[in-house]
Amino acid sequence: MSSANNILEVSSLAGGYGRFDVVRNITLRLREGEAVGLLGPNGAGKTTILRGIMGLLKQRVGTIRIGDTDVTMFPTHRIARGYAAIAPEGRRLFADQTVEDNLILGAWHRRREPQRVQALLDSVYALFPVLREYRHRQSSFLSGGEQQMVAIGRMLMADPLILLLDEPSIGLSPVAVDIVVKALIELRRRGASLLLVEQRVDVAARVCDRLYVISGGEIVEETTPEVVGREGAELINKYLG
Ligand SMILES: Nc1ncnc2c1ncn2[C@@H]1O[C@H](COP(=O)(O)OP(=O)(O)OP(=O)(O)O)[C@@H](O)[C@H]1O
Ligand SMILES: [Mg+2]
Repeated sequence: MSSANNILEVSSLAGGYGRFDVVRNITLRLREGEAVGLLGPNGAGKTTILRGIMGLLKQRVGTIRIGDTDVTMFPTHRIARGYAAIAPEGRRLFADQTVEDNLILGAWHRRREPQRVQALLDSVYALFPVLREYRHRQSSFLSGGEQQMVAIGRMLMADPLILLLDEPSIGLSPVAVDIVVKALIELRRRGASLLLVEQRVDVAARVCDRLYVISGGEIVEETTPEVVGREGAELINKYLG
């Protein structure tokens, strides 16, 4: 299945946390500049797949290629150095640190390149102007939507080949969801390659070219937003929710 313009190739990934595999036989690809959604109900294994790509699963088989590199055996800190970055479930900000310090943490591996870090910060602030305004604020004082913007911004500060987002819409107001969706669409315009975990089909459909449906730890369907369609999205939302 190897193809020159696949930026991510996951082949026969299986893994979990203990004696039993939580995900099995996961084979998926992401082309350069593409956005792909992973949809599925609670407990389906979506986060586990992202953790597998980041090298965060102790138990894992299969292979993972990012760009031209087989990263299967790489430790997480090496994958985080320019291959993949994640806006994790629950955002995981350092609550007592400022917005800007949280962002700069995403670029720790570039800490000896202050001009590069500043350029990345400027591009995050261009994407989310409110974060520039609040840059000296403690991140725990931000709204949920603003905190999600920080989590996405911190991921962008790593300037990786692929972006992994784990349910960025969860718990947000409709206005905040719309801001996040528009930011993801803007990232695509800038050429980013995204793997987006979502329970909201409408959100994934607005952002993604292709969708994989995960259930019981396996990929059960590959589809497109066009096929799912608007009405279908509402139905599936109900089913997944
Ligand atoms: N750290 C862990 N230790 C043991 N089991 C875990 C751990 N994390 C997740 N699991 C189990 O693995 C399965 C898949 O979890 P995962 O978090 O990947 O699902 P998910 O699709 O991301 O669900 P959600 O939409 O609720 O976030 C679940 O049965 C869960 O209980
Ligand atoms: Mg999850």
